Amino acid sequence: MCGIFGYIGKSEAVPFIVEGLKKLEYRGYDSAGVATYEHGRIFVSKCEGKIAELEELLTDKPIGGEMGIGHTRWATHGSPSDVNSHPHTSCDGKIALVHNGIIENYLELRRKLSEEGHKFKSTTDTEVIVHLVEKYYKGDLEKAMRQALQEVTGSYAIAAICEQEPGKIVCARKGSPLIVGLSDNEAFISSDIPAIIKYTSKVIYLEDEEVATIQRKKIQISTLDGKPVKRKPTLISWDPESAEKGGYAHFMLKEIHEQPGAIRKTIAHRVNVDSAKVHFDELNLEPKEIRHFNRIIFTACGTSWHAALVGEYLMERYAKIPVEVEYAAEFRYREPIVDDKTLLIAVSQSGETADTLGAVWEAKARGAKVISICNVVGSSLARESHGVIYTDAGPEIGVASTKAFTTQLAVIYLLTVLFGQVRKTLPQAKAIQMINNLMEIPDKMERVLAKEADVEKLSEKFYNSTNALYLGRGKGFPVALEGALKLKEVSYIHAEGYPAAEMKHGPIALIDKNMPVVVLAMHGRRYDKILGNIEEVKARGGIVIAIASEGDQMVKEKADEIIYIPASTEAVSPMLAVVPLQLFAYYIAVKRGCHVDQPRNLAKSVTVE
Ligand code: F6R
Repeated sequence: MCGIFGYIGKSEAVPFIVEGLKKLEYRGYDSAGVATYEHGRIFVSKCEGKIAELEELLTDKPIGGEMGIGHTRWATHGSPSDVNSHPHTSCDGKIALVHNGIIENYLELRRKLSEEGHKFKSTTDTEVIVHLVEKYYKGDLEKAMRQALQEVTGSYAIAAICEQEPGKIVCARKGSPLIVGLSDNEAFISSDIPAIIKYTSKVIYLEDEEVATIQRKKIQISTLDGKPVKRKPTLISWDPESAEKGGYAHFMLKEIHEQPGAIRKTIAHRVNVDSAKVHFDELNLEPKEIRHFNRIIFTACGTSWHAALVGEYLMERYAKIPVEVEYAAEFRYREPIVDDKTLLIAVSQSGETADTLGAVWEAKARGAKVISICNVVGSSLARESHGVIYTDAGPEIGVASTKAFTTQLAVIYLLTVLFGQVRKTLPQAKAIQMINNLMEIPDKMERVLAKEADVEKLSEKFYNSTNALYLGRGKGFPVALEGALKLKEVSYIHAEGYPAAEMKHGPIALIDKNMPVVVLAMHGRRYDKILGNIEEVKARGGIVIAIASEGDQMVKEKADEIIYIPASTEAVSPMLAVVPLQLFAYYIAVKRGCHVDQPRNLAKSVTVE
């Protein structure tokens, strides 16, 4: 949930670390800090607030050195404050350490260490680790780290430096990501790739329960119990520009605009348009297995869960296989009934969401086959799954997920076609037609994006609202959920997504003249019914904002506001319909003065339960 960045090289470390932390700020932004080594001493600078505040502090009181570690925090244990900020230091100040994750047995460890004389300064769980390392330190930081980590339970990505061992950063991970970037004369550590891609594309992913000692020109990895590990670096193909705002005011806006390109990239190498053949390189599913499954369970959190819900509608209709969609955190602790005829599909942008990973472990332990749909190559989820399909969305940095969602939809759609073909539930002519419909989406999306100014104007009318309802039917329902989630997370307006037919069973009581009701009213099998739901809202004085298919007059007559999107089949329509809702949420948030890319209390990747 926090971000870690480290540098060791021949230049001043602080500018690299601050720059790296800025890229990681989406992971947490309630406090930040840095520790460097220079002339035989460790220097620490840290404070509550965003990286900008740390930068000011570092300008007032600079700290130097050619190696260091930094941290941006999203508080779990201990409120955001100067003293709870990382790095934490040992009693003698000779070891500094940053941590991402949760130490579950920290209270017990803290009590023991206090009895042994260690003095705690903060109320964090992290501080126990640095005291444990201090306790075991006998001139070898890596060894002390290994001994300390034998005693902790929970999850961690850790980086530490020590006054007696200049030129070394010692790191470890379990359940939280950590990447080492290698360049000719320097090395980096980071919680994710966008923060280092500017400096190098050669990276090593640390695996769970590994410890690494990083020197300027050398990296040495071993397991927690001391067995050496050999790992070749991976070359990352992301373009460094993709981690920059590229002239847009916010990452969220940039990422909304990147969607047509991201979908093109995601589908291009996977389909043959003429034969409707779909191919996924790392799926690792034999046709006979696809026929063997009698059930699919999708699991995910947040926006990814909404994409999974579209998957339920698609898979059941075209591949004729029963589907359930589970919130990962509920699934994993429910003693789910799962066997080898169950396919679990985990959906996640980051591939590091703790609940989703937990659901995968649970399903695997119960004999299910697991595939993941994920945006980050080499992420924990990808590595834990039997097969993986990567969405080629490129780095998603805005905390509110946008292009990850639409590329997930594209992948789930293609997977449905594949399953329908293999299970012989999808006639070839229909499969060809479905592929053609998908191929049209990027161009149609561009046409939706061309209406940005209209959506911005619309947001002017509604940015002072305090509530909003989003209604949809069929595949419009997950889009309603997603539209509502986008609005609440970036603008802090209370919003509910609801199946339109369910409205009359309760939420209809909320409707009055101040209630904007966004209705997904595109052409499709439930079109007449949605018109009826619009009437119900209007009869109670609500304000209807409709998303409708181009040329539709019926909806226009009934709705107060209308945004047209190009006509499409229902199966692909979520990819188009969500775009105006993303823009609507974005512009409302901007007008309300909200911090769009870093909404309060949120973090991009939720690596704690
Ligand atoms: C909403 C959002 C979150 C994530 C959720 C799962 O805009 O970004 O709801 O979708 O935290 O994250 P991933 O997809 O990384 O597992």
